[in-house]
Amino acid sequence: MAFDIKTKMNGRFRDLQGGLFLSVEKADVGEGAAKFQAAGGVNMAWADMFYPDPSIPESVLKATVEALETGFPSHYTLPIGMLELRQALAEHIEKKDGLKLDPSRNILIAPGSDSGLMMAMMPFLEAGDEVLVPDPCYASNYLNCTLLGAKAVSVPTWYDDNYRIHIEEMEKRLTNRTKMVLLTHPNNPTTVVYRKDNLEELAKFIVDNDLVLVCDQAFEDHIFDGIEFVSPCTLPGMWERTVTVCSMSKGYGLSGYRIGYLYADDHMMDVYYGAAVNVLGAPNTMSTFGCIAALHDDTILPGYKERLDRRRMLAYGILSAIPGVRMRPSESGILSWLDVSRLGTSQEIVDYLREEALIMVNPGSQYGACGEGFIRIVSACFSDDGDAAACFERIADALTKLAKEKGIA
Ligand SMILES: Cc1ncc(COP(=O)(O)O)c(C=O)c1O
Repeated sequence: MAFDIKTKMNGRFRDLQGGLFLSVEKADVGEGAAKFQAAGGVNMAWADMFYPDPSIPESVLKATVEALETGFPSHYTLPIGMLELRQALAEHIEKKDGLKLDPSRNILIAPGSDSGLMMAMMPFLEAGDEVLVPDPCYASNYLNCTLLGAKAVSVPTWYDDNYRIHIEEMEKRLTNRTKMVLLTHPNNPTTVVYRKDNLEELAKFIVDNDLVLVCDQAFEDHIFDGIEFVSPCTLPGMWERTVTVCSMSKGYGLSGYRIGYLYADDHMMDVYYGAAVNVLGAPNTMSTFGCIAALHDDTILPGYKERLDRRRMLAYGILSAIPGVRMRPSESGILSWLDVSRLGTSQEIVDYLREEALIMVNPGSQYGACGEGFIRIVSACFSDDGDAAACFERIADALTKLAKEKGIA
């Protein structure tokens, strides 16, 4: 019998597919996206601000180049991240959350928040544990649970009440194996910012049931329409049971720098520090200098917020006029979220747009069952509003044609 190396693998990993042997309909694995772009297609499926255009802020570029010229970045930083970066982040966190953190006890740097999220969950989850996950949410949440032997339990949320979390839906799914709530806040893909009263209900549920919260706040830096952003770790009873995971990728547009960070109570942080070198290795030294400069430059976030605000309204203006499509202006970040269910399934519409408009977007179904019937568009692709608008128009033209074929006026 032919040797099958996969029989040696841990069952949690065995069935993963990276696109080498089968074509995998995911934007982020294999060569699919690169081939599509090489053939003239536009990739609006990567949550990467201004992709593919150059967009390093001047102060960050200068600090990065200067750091390189010292020759020092060929060396490791501390596995938990350089102190100066943790200090800059402590100031940033104090400004946004009002928390006074000790950079040497409460903050850990990760090579991006993807590995940071996995790290955040690892010390808590054992085989058979259950994790309540408001659905739709960041697609990696489901696989992260599986890889750790736990079970992600989807808790449905709905477009019609702007994806409010219903505590009774949480309660229905609570078992004696439930250990954690995993929240994407602001939400990717919906862009929804969970409101303070809703988070207070959720916090009470978490405390009453003695659960842990891992809160992914990768998109927290740009919130629109004056909506209040609350970090759940600041709510009563939550600090000691919450790990907050953030990123330099989305707000500062530094996804290629690969810097994320976790903050938490020192009792948890002690364990993360202990595991840092084994799980994360160490963050990139050159990027560390660039990110310190970014955090010290008070013009970057306000400048990007103004551009992203304009961009989401541009997307909303063009895309919400498509017959049969429902959407709201995005509440945060760089994405647009469209209900296309009258036109087809998520996957049908994604496939159609690839063919008809030569544009790659994400099927809502990737983000959980409640995302079915939706598509996600990274509306902050391209530096120039005109380039982005041309793509929104192409999507609108293609979907309008489809709507006509389906008799939707
Ligand atoms: C909600 C959310 N969290 C975390 C990440 C990971 O980002 P990074 O690893 O670049 O920090 C992403 C990336 O798309 C995301 O959408």
